[in-house]
Amino acid sequence: MSTAASPHQTIKFQQGQNIVLIGLSGPSSSGKTTVAKALTCLFENSILVHLDDFYIPDEQIPVDPIHQEKDWDCPEAIDFDKFVEYIENIKKGILSEVKTLESDVTLKLSKDEISEYRRKIPSTPDTLYVFVDGFMLFHDPEIISLFDLKLFFYASFDTLKYRRESRSGYNTEAGFWVDPPNYFENIVWPQYVKNHNYLFIDNDVNKELNTYAIKDLGLLSYQNESKTTLNDLIQWSIDSILN
Ligand SMILES: Nc1ncnc2c1ncn2[C@@H]1O[C@H](COP(=O)(O)OP(=O)(O)OP(=O)(O)O)[C@@H](O)[C@H]1O
Ligand SMILES: [Mg+2]
Repeated sequence: MSTAASPHQTIKFQQGQNIVLIGLSGPSSSGKTTVAKALTCLFENSILVHLDDFYIPDEQIPVDPIHQEKDWDCPEAIDFDKFVEYIENIKKGILSEVKTLESDVTLKLSKDEISEYRRKIPSTPDTLYVFVDGFMLFHDPEIISLFDLKLFFYASFDTLKYRRESRSGYNTEAGFWVDPPNYFENIVWPQYVKNHNYLFIDNDVNKELNTYAIKDLGLLSYQNESKTTLNDLIQWSIDSILN
Protein backbone atom coordinates (compact mmCIF):
# COMPACT_ATOMS: atom_id res chain seq x y z
CA MET A 1 0.00 0.00 0.00
CA SER A 2 1.39 3.39 -0.76
CA THR A 3 0.26 6.85 0.15
CA ALA A 4 0.36 10.12 -1.67
CA ALA A 5 0.50 11.83 1.68
CA SER A 6 4.26 11.93 2.10
CA PRO A 7 6.31 13.44 -0.68
CA HIS A 8 9.47 11.82 0.59
CA GLN A 9 8.89 8.14 0.84
CA THR A 10 6.51 5.36 0.15
CA ILE A 11 5.52 3.56 3.32
CA LYS A 12 4.06 0.12 3.53
CA PHE A 13 2.25 -1.15 6.58
CA GLN A 14 3.95 -4.11 8.14
CA GLN A 15 2.23 -6.81 10.09
CA GLY A 16 2.37 -6.13 13.80
CA GLN A 17 3.64 -2.60 13.40
CA ASN A 18 2.84 -0.25 16.25
CA ILE A 19 0.88 2.69 14.85
CA VAL A 20 1.20 6.05 16.61
CA LEU A 21 -1.25 8.73 15.55
CA ILE A 22 -0.11 12.29 16.12
CA GLY A 23 -2.54 15.15 15.56
CA LEU A 24 -1.11 18.60 14.82
CA SER A 25 -3.77 21.24 15.07
CA GLY A 26 -4.35 24.91 15.71
CA PRO A 27 -5.43 27.99 13.79
CA SER A 28 -4.52 28.79 10.22
CA SER A 29 -0.86 29.78 9.82
CA SER A 30 0.14 28.48 13.23
CA GLY A 31 2.79 26.30 11.57
CA LYS A 32 1.08 22.88 11.48
CA THR A 33 1.93 21.92 7.92
CA THR A 34 5.46 23.25 8.19
CA VAL A 35 6.13 21.16 11.29
CA ALA A 36 4.22 18.10 10.05
CA LYS A 37 6.25 18.02 6.84
CA ALA A 38 9.50 18.31 8.76
CA LEU A 39 8.55 15.52 11.20
CA THR A 40 7.49 13.24 8.36
CA CYS A 41 10.90 13.71 6.84
CA LEU A 42 12.73 13.11 10.12
CA PHE A 43 10.95 10.03 11.50
CA GLU A 44 11.99 6.94 9.56
CA ASN A 45 8.60 5.22 9.26
CA SER A 46 6.07 7.97 8.89
CA ILE A 47 3.24 9.21 6.78
CA LEU A 48 1.48 12.54 6.58
CA VAL A 49 -2.26 13.02 6.33
CA HIS A 50 -3.82 16.43 5.66
CA LEU A 51 -7.32 17.22 6.90
CA ASP A 52 -7.54 19.66 3.98
CA ASP A 53 -7.87 16.63 1.70
CA PHE A 54 -11.24 15.90 3.33
CA TYR A 55 -13.10 19.07 2.36
CA ILE A 56 -16.58 18.61 0.94
CA PRO A 57 -16.91 19.63 -2.74
CA ASP A 58 -16.17 23.31 -3.41
CA GLU A 59 -19.71 24.13 -4.51
CA GLN A 60 -21.11 22.78 -1.21
CA ILE A 61 -18.87 24.82 1.08
CA PRO A 62 -21.15 26.83 3.43
CA VAL A 63 -21.53 30.52 2.72
CA ASP A 64 -21.12 32.88 5.67
CA PRO A 65 -24.49 34.62 6.10
CA ILE A 66 -23.03 37.97 7.10
CA HIS A 67 -20.08 38.34 4.76
CA GLN A 68 -21.53 36.28 1.90
CA GLU A 69 -18.20 34.50 1.38
CA LYS A 70 -17.45 30.80 1.25
CA ASP A 71 -16.54 29.68 4.76
CA TRP A 72 -13.62 27.27 4.48
CA ASP A 73 -12.92 27.52 8.19
CA CYS A 74 -16.02 25.99 9.77
CA PRO A 75 -16.21 22.30 10.77
CA GLU A 76 -19.16 21.81 8.37
CA ALA A 77 -16.78 22.35 5.44
CA ILE A 78 -15.04 19.06 6.26
CA ASP A 79 -16.39 15.58 5.59
CA PHE A 80 -15.69 14.30 9.10
CA ASP A 81 -17.44 10.97 8.53
CA LYS A 82 -14.96 10.22 5.74
CA PHE A 83 -12.03 11.54 7.77
CA VAL A 84 -12.87 9.53 10.90
CA GLU A 85 -13.34 6.39 8.83
CA TYR A 86 -9.98 7.00 7.19
CA ILE A 87 -8.22 7.41 10.55
CA GLU A 88 -9.99 4.41 12.07
CA ASN A 89 -8.89 2.33 9.10
CA ILE A 90 -5.30 3.42 9.64
CA LYS A 91 -5.60 2.20 13.24
CA LYS A 92 -6.63 -1.18 11.80
CA GLY A 93 -3.67 -1.15 9.41
CA ILE A 94 -5.63 -0.18 6.31
CA LEU A 95 -4.20 2.74 4.41
CA SER A 96 -5.84 3.95 1.24
CA GLU A 97 -4.39 6.50 -1.10
CA VAL A 98 -5.60 10.09 -0.84
CA LYS A 99 -5.10 12.52 -3.66
CA THR A 100 -3.46 15.39 -1.83
CA LEU A 101 -4.06 19.03 -2.65
CA GLU A 102 -1.44 20.23 -0.21
CA SER A 103 1.45 21.81 -2.05
CA ASP A 104 2.25 25.25 -0.76
CA VAL A 105 4.55 24.35 2.11
CA THR A 106 7.97 23.09 1.12
CA LEU A 107 10.33 21.40 3.50
CA LYS A 108 12.31 24.12 5.24
CA LEU A 109 15.28 22.09 6.49
CA SER A 110 18.77 21.86 5.05
CA LYS A 111 20.46 18.49 4.44
CA ASP A 112 22.74 19.11 7.41
CA GLU A 113 19.82 19.92 9.71
CA ILE A 114 18.02 16.77 8.57
CA SER A 115 21.05 14.57 9.34
CA GLU A 116 21.58 16.27 12.70
CA TYR A 117 17.96 15.73 13.79
CA ARG A 118 17.85 12.16 12.47
CA ARG A 119 21.00 11.30 14.40
CA LYS A 120 19.18 12.18 17.64
CA ILE A 121 15.98 10.27 16.90
CA PRO A 122 16.21 6.62 17.98
CA SER A 123 15.47 4.03 15.32
CA THR A 124 12.00 2.52 15.80
CA PRO A 125 11.49 0.09 12.91
CA ASP A 126 8.41 -1.41 14.58
CA THR A 127 6.59 1.91 14.85
CA LEU A 128 4.74 3.76 12.14
CA TYR A 129 4.19 7.44 12.93
CA VAL A 130 1.09 8.90 11.33
CA PHE A 131 1.18 12.69 11.39
CA VAL A 132 -2.20 14.32 10.86
CA ASP A 133 -2.17 18.00 9.99
CA GLY A 134 -5.46 19.86 10.33
CA PHE A 135 -6.99 23.16 11.39
CA MET A 136 -10.08 21.46 12.85
CA LEU A 137 -8.95 18.40 14.81
CA PHE A 138 -9.36 19.71 18.36
CA HIS A 139 -12.78 21.37 18.19
CA ASP A 140 -14.42 18.10 19.21
CA PRO A 141 -13.27 15.81 22.03
CA GLU A 142 -14.33 12.77 20.00
CA ILE A 143 -11.98 13.70 17.19
CA ILE A 144 -9.25 14.52 19.72
CA SER A 145 -9.59 11.02 21.17
CA LEU A 146 -8.54 9.50 17.84
CA PHE A 147 -4.97 10.61 18.48
CA ASP A 148 -2.29 9.18 20.71
CA LEU A 149 -0.51 12.52 20.87
CA LYS A 150 -2.11 15.92 20.42
CA LEU A 151 0.09 18.86 19.48
CA PHE A 152 -1.63 22.22 19.47
CA PHE A 153 0.08 25.20 17.83
CA TYR A 154 -1.29 28.65 18.32
CA ALA A 155 -0.37 32.33 18.07
CA SER A 156 -1.86 35.77 18.45
CA PHE A 157 -4.37 37.37 16.10
CA ASP A 158 -1.74 39.78 14.74
CA THR A 159 0.88 37.11 14.06
CA LEU A 160 -1.61 34.79 12.37
CA LYS A 161 -3.20 37.55 10.32
CA TYR A 162 0.18 38.70 9.07
CA ARG A 163 1.23 35.17 8.07
CA ARG A 164 -2.12 34.33 6.49
CA GLU A 165 -2.13 37.51 4.42
CA SER A 166 1.42 36.82 3.23
CA ARG A 167 0.23 33.62 1.57
CA SER A 168 -0.90 33.38 -2.02
CA GLY A 169 -3.84 31.04 -1.46
CA TYR A 170 -4.94 27.43 -1.23
CA ASN A 171 -5.44 24.61 -3.71
CA THR A 172 -8.99 23.33 -3.62
CA GLU A 173 -10.59 20.35 -5.29
CA ALA A 174 -11.89 22.51 -8.12
CA GLY A 175 -9.44 25.39 -8.25
CA PHE A 176 -7.43 27.82 -6.18
CA TRP A 177 -8.79 29.91 -3.30
CA VAL A 178 -7.49 33.40 -2.69
CA ASP A 179 -8.76 35.17 0.45
CA PRO A 180 -10.95 38.18 -0.30
CA PRO A 181 -10.11 41.34 1.69
CA ASN A 182 -10.55 41.00 5.49
CA TYR A 183 -11.14 37.25 5.23
CA PHE A 184 -8.89 36.57 8.22
CA GLU A 185 -10.76 38.83 10.64
CA ASN A 186 -14.20 38.11 9.17
CA ILE A 187 -14.06 34.33 8.82
CA VAL A 188 -10.81 32.60 9.78
CA TRP A 189 -10.25 34.06 13.25
CA PRO A 190 -13.94 34.02 14.38
CA GLN A 191 -14.28 30.35 13.39
CA TYR A 192 -11.06 29.49 15.18
CA VAL A 193 -12.28 31.28 18.33
CA LYS A 194 -15.79 29.82 18.20
CA ASN A 195 -14.50 26.26 17.88
CA HIS A 196 -11.52 26.44 20.24
CA ASN A 197 -12.33 28.86 23.06
CA TYR A 198 -13.54 25.94 25.21
CA LEU A 199 -9.89 24.86 25.44
CA PHE A 200 -8.70 28.12 27.01
CA ILE A 201 -8.80 29.69 30.45
CA ASP A 202 -11.92 31.90 30.71
CA ASN A 203 -12.84 30.84 27.14
CA ASP A 204 -10.29 33.40 26.01
CA VAL A 205 -7.96 32.27 23.20
CA ASN A 206 -5.50 35.01 24.23
CA LYS A 207 -4.88 33.13 27.49
CA GLU A 208 -3.37 29.70 28.10
CA LEU A 209 -4.97 26.29 27.71
CA ASN A 210 -7.25 25.35 30.60
CA THR A 211 -6.98 22.31 32.86
CA TYR A 212 -9.63 20.43 30.88
CA ALA A 213 -7.61 20.79 27.67
CA ILE A 214 -4.34 19.81 29.31
CA LYS A 215 -5.36 17.14 31.80
CA ASP A 216 -8.55 15.63 30.36
CA LEU A 217 -7.93 16.01 26.65
CA GLY A 218 -4.15 15.67 26.85
CA LEU A 219 -3.25 18.60 24.63
CA LEU A 220 0.35 19.76 24.48
CA SER A 221 0.66 23.31 23.23
CA TYR A 222 3.26 25.60 21.73
CA GLN A 223 2.83 29.29 21.11
CA ASN A 224 4.38 30.00 17.72
CA GLU A 225 4.88 33.75 17.62
CA SER A 226 7.22 35.61 15.30
CA LYS A 227 10.23 35.17 17.58
CA THR A 228 9.88 31.38 17.36
CA THR A 229 12.15 29.62 14.91
CA LEU A 230 11.32 26.54 12.90
CA ASN A 231 13.98 24.71 14.90
CA ASP A 232 12.22 25.62 18.17
CA LEU A 233 9.00 24.15 16.83
CA ILE A 234 10.59 21.00 15.48
CA GLN A 235 12.67 20.34 18.58
CA TRP A 236 9.66 20.79 20.86
CA SER A 237 7.61 18.44 18.67
CA ILE A 238 10.33 15.78 18.60
CA ASP A 239 10.75 15.99 22.37
CA SER A 240 6.99 15.71 22.84
CA ILE A 241 6.87 12.60 20.64
CA LEU A 242 9.88 10.89 22.20
CA ASN A 243 8.67 11.59 25.73
N1 LIG B 1 7.72 30.87 13.62
C1 LIG B 1 7.58 31.25 12.36
N2 LIG B 1 8.34 32.23 11.86
C2 LIG B 1 8.18 32.63 10.59
N3 LIG B 1 7.29 32.11 9.72
C3 LIG B 1 6.52 31.13 10.17
C4 LIG B 1 6.62 30.64 11.51
N4 LIG B 1 5.72 29.66 11.66
C5 LIG B 1 5.08 29.54 10.48
N5 LIG B 1 5.57 30.42 9.59
C6 LIG B 1 5.13 30.61 8.20
O1 LIG B 1 3.74 30.83 8.20
C7 LIG B 1 3.16 30.27 7.05
C8 LIG B 1 2.05 29.36 7.49
O2 LIG B 1 2.61 28.19 8.09
P1 LIG B 1 1.92 26.78 7.83
O3 LIG B 1 1.58 26.64 6.38
O4 LIG B 1 2.78 25.74 8.44
O5 LIG B 1 0.59 27.00 8.67
P2 LIG B 1 -0.66 26.05 8.88
O6 LIG B 1 -0.85 26.00 10.35
O7 LIG B 1 -0.46 24.77 8.16
O8 LIG B 1 -1.83 26.90 8.25
P3 LIG B 1 -3.17 26.41 7.45
O9 LIG B 1 -4.09 25.84 8.48
O10 LIG B 1 -3.73 27.65 6.86
O11 LIG B 1 -2.76 25.40 6.44
C9 LIG B 1 4.26 29.56 6.28
O12 LIG B 1 4.72 30.40 5.24
C10 LIG B 1 5.34 29.37 7.34
O13 LIG B 1 6.63 29.36 6.78
MG1 LIG C 1 -1.46 23.94 6.54
